[in-house]
Amino acid sequence: MNVSVIGAGYVGLVAACCLANSGHNVICIENNREKCLMLINGHVPFFEKGLEALLARGLENGKLNFYSNISYAKYSEVIMVAVGTPSQPDGRVDLSQIFRVMSEISEMISTPVTLIMKSTVPPGLGLQLQQRFLNGNSHLISYVSNPEFLREGRAVKDWYDPERIVAGTEIPGTIEILRKLYNDIGAPLCIMDISSAEMVKYASNAFLATKISFINEIANLCELVGADIEPVARAVGMDSRIGSHFLQAGLGYGGSCFPKDTKGLDFISTLNGHTFNLLKAVIEVNARQRVVAIRKLSRMLGTLCGKRIAVLGLSFKPGTDDIRESPSLDIIRMLVDEGAEVSAFDPMARLPQHRGIPQGFIMCTDVLDALESCHGAVVITEWREFVELDWEKAHSLMIPPRVVLDGRNCLDPLKLSALGYVYAGMGRMSGKLC
Ligand SMILES: NC(=O)c1ccc[n+]([C@@H]2O[C@H](COP(=O)([O-])OP(=O)(O)OC[C@H]3O[C@@H](n4cnc5c(N)ncnc54)[C@H](O)[C@@H]3O)[C@@H](O)[C@H]2O)c1
Repeated sequence: MNVSVIGAGYVGLVAACCLANSGHNVICIENNREKCLMLINGHVPFFEKGLEALLARGLENGKLNFYSNISYAKYSEVIMVAVGTPSQPDGRVDLSQIFRVMSEISEMISTPVTLIMKSTVPPGLGLQLQQRFLNGNSHLISYVSNPEFLREGRAVKDWYDPERIVAGTEIPGTIEILRKLYNDIGAPLCIMDISSAEMVKYASNAFLATKISFINEIANLCELVGADIEPVARAVGMDSRIGSHFLQAGLGYGGSCFPKDTKGLDFISTLNGHTFNLLKAVIEVNARQRVVAIRKLSRMLGTLCGKRIAVLGLSFKPGTDDIRESPSLDIIRMLVDEGAEVSAFDPMARLPQHRGIPQGFIMCTDVLDALESCHGAVVITEWREFVELDWEKAHSLMIPPRVVLDGRNCLDPLKLSALGYVYAGMGRMSGKLC
């Protein structure tokens, strides 16, 4: 099929590369010229395992082409929209990228096309978009909501092996187009109306975020009553009605989806006259978890003022360089505000200048350099580099009291204590402070 993908971000680029790899002729439109040029030259602008090889193959066999002007998408049978839908400060979803693309598509289309909405958009928006942008040429443009569930760090695998494909449409013919497009993907197809498909995405992310905040609340309570979250979470998760995923206590969720989608759903609820108290609590618990970490560090060190702290990990999870809404950003800001000096290391992620990170913050290119002369360290991301670190050597580089706050419960508390560290996890028995 002749397919265009609009937006070459984490979702759009994976979609474009995978669709080309599946044999479709793909045009990917990326309006950031610098990014577009990188892609034309075979460079992926972010880190995602396996993507560079797919990009190279697509460019080499001519199945994949990049342009910055949307007019190249004009004669495609399918246009997939994968532009960003970030959060506004009040939690509202910023739909400006969607509106712009919809307006451009509606103006340029002159032959029949299936428009697949991959971006996460609020429930009800698809119907509005059709009314607002497609009324004049609804005979040409068939709209289908097809939310994406891939996870950064394993996006290519998730693309080919999703647990379900959700399709929301009012036009039965578009389902056949989707089947053709995804003919090499064996997942069940869940067909429904547009607004319901949009809701599936928000409900899924909100539920996963709820699991994370729930286990963090249990972890905090574990510390108070002298229980240990690790065996608790393991045994709770063995109940198949609950499941073990997203039951890892720690610093809370971050990334480009859970924070904005939980806040977005909360906003939509309020807008529709519903107070989603459960979701509000999930969001609040998540924000508080970062403060809990700072409070722990401060108590372990007496004060943070004048102390040097190593921040290990910037990305919101291992396997990606994505730092959007990562706990690292809040924790670095709070540490600096408290008067600490901060040195940070991440195997993949970098902090761009514009992130509002204050002075007094040093980015290191080696984990041991980051730890040198530090009074304490906080593990933000459970990268293998930190789990398998030579903690004995790190001990000789750090200075007393050598505090380690394991924000992901990924280190061995007994080993670190035996080496002479003051160790605390999140909800772990050894992390009890009082
Ligand atoms: N990142 C994820 O893990 C993930 C997973 C599932 C769903 N989603 C959803 O998918 C959507 C995209 O997410 P993302 O993380 O890929 O976003 P992103 O910000 O990484 O990428 C969006 C890309 O679109 C480009 N763009 C914006 N307007 C454009 C236009 N008019 N023409 C051409 N290109 C344009 C931007 O320059 C950017 O490169 C969002 O709605 C997000 O919620 C993301």
